[in-house]
Amino acid sequence: MAVTTTNIQIEVGRVPMGKGPNWAFLLAHGGAGPQDPSGGMIEQAEKRVATVLNQAGAGIPSDIPSVLKLSWQQATPLERLVMNGTRELEADPLFNAGLGASLQGDGQARLSASFMESQRQKFSAVMNVTNIVHACDLAWALQEQRHCVLDGMGSDDLKRRLGIPATSPVTKDRLAKWISYKRRELAAQADSSGKTGTVGVIGLSGSNHLAASTSTGGVGNEAPGRVGDSPTIAGNYCSKQVAISCTGLGEQIIAFALAPRLALGVESGKTLESVMTKSMELADQRGYSFAAIAIASDPAAGVLEWAAGSVNCRLVWSKIEKCL
Ligand code: GLY
Repeated sequence: MAVTTTNIQIEVGRVPMGKGPNWAFLLAHGGAGPQDPSGGMIEQAEKRVATVLNQAGAGIPSDIPSVLKLSWQQATPLERLVMNGTRELEADPLFNAGLGASLQGDGQARLSASFMESQRQKFSAVMNVTNIVHACDLAWALQEQRHCVLDGMGSDDLKRRLGIPATSPVTKDRLAKWISYKRRELAAQADSSGKTGTVGVIGLSGSNHLAASTSTGGVGNEAPGRVGDSPTIAGNYCSKQVAISCTGLGEQIIAFALAPRLALGVESGKTLESVMTKSMELADQRGYSFAAIAIASDPAAGVLEWAAGSVNCRLVWSKIEKCL
């Protein structure tokens, strides 16, 4: 643990790299806000994130849309690991992404997801797509398209063009929560700020291949069409030196440029630990509430640095080192 104050928690570590092409180091998170697992569910969520990382393999899932099979076959093992981890977390209603994602103010689930890796360095994302569980499949598909960020209308259209069948991600539990929220909102104009949630998986494999994937149901009860940080580079970013996934209140993550701030700090020669610490301290002064997982690689030194940091919220996260 590098820093622990009442408001800020930062854990960091260093791991030797270059243990062969089949070696990988992964971090994942399951969100950090009231729409995410909280109270007695936090422990369960932490165990689940750890299990997902432990079990994540580099195979091709049987339920992958057939039109994406070729791109999965051509993907690197790290890309498949990161995507498999994200898909598993999306499939678990414990988290606010994919199945069981929170609902917007009009009762619709609109999902957002993004993907980026260090070789192509192309950011791709869908914003507010409906009737889908694995929004990350669309972000993945956009890696091969000219226009790589689509709004809700474009994403819904892409889903149809790819032949991905419409599947409602709405669970009874989320609907019941939304109805109870609406009842309370009618009674008193409730403040929805600070209600947030996301899943994310980042990794480094081989000598220096990095990837980052993030998927979310948004903050819950938001204005229909609201876009948070997850389908932007503020919330999901990857370069040849860093992989970062953020969670927390999207408006604050965007205003703070959280992922680019961490990336630029590392790329200007600072340690991830110092950049994460400074960023979270500044965020605390501004009263922000968010979290990030990050990997920074230093191939010349043969070491990667990882960090999981949060300010004014409780991050559900896990890490693993594995051989494929
Ligand atoms: N971090 C998720 C969102 O604000 O939408």
